[in-house]
Amino acid sequence: MVGNITFTMLKPDAVEANNIGPILAKINQAGFRIVAMKYLKLSKDTAGKFYEVHKERPFYGELVDYMSSGPIVAAVLQKDNAVADFRTLIGATDPSKAEEGTIRKLFAKSIAANAVHGSDSDENAAIEANFYFSQIERF
Ligand code: RTP
Ligand code: MG
Repeated sequence: MVGNITFTMLKPDAVEANNIGPILAKINQAGFRIVAMKYLKLSKDTAGKFYEVHKERPFYGELVDYMSSGPIVAAVLQKDNAVADFRTLIGATDPSKAEEGTIRKLFAKSIAANAVHGSDSDENAAIEANFYFSQIERF
């Protein structure tokens, strides 16, 4: 069965560039409902835990430093086929390879500062949503 939630973060570059509003508008226009949302700055320790799956990747240190460098917006989003549809909406990890009209094509600055995160599976969407939000923070 295809799940109906995904988890996103608007990354420090998107917040810094005043693109919270335009990105949330794209997300709503694409048919996603906001289930939960918060605006916060991750500590290095918390960013390191969130990205633990990437611990062995060469960019892990850079990723953790970057994601703790400024405030982010974290959100849980609901839609049929949420994980795959949101990955289509955001586009490729490297914005120079992202399709026209995708959030990364429109707003990302580089492969590291790529505007948004999107879960890569239903299982990880649930894990990531639970990392940030309790049941009484979801509507
Ligand atoms: P995300 O998890 O943020 O939605 O991105 P993704 O699935 O498209 O990419 P992933 O492979 O999960 O990588 C996580 C994030 O690490 C940064 N990255 N930097 N310097 C590099 O080569 C490199 N590769 C990945 C990106 O910010 C990517 O979104
Ligand atoms: Mg990923």
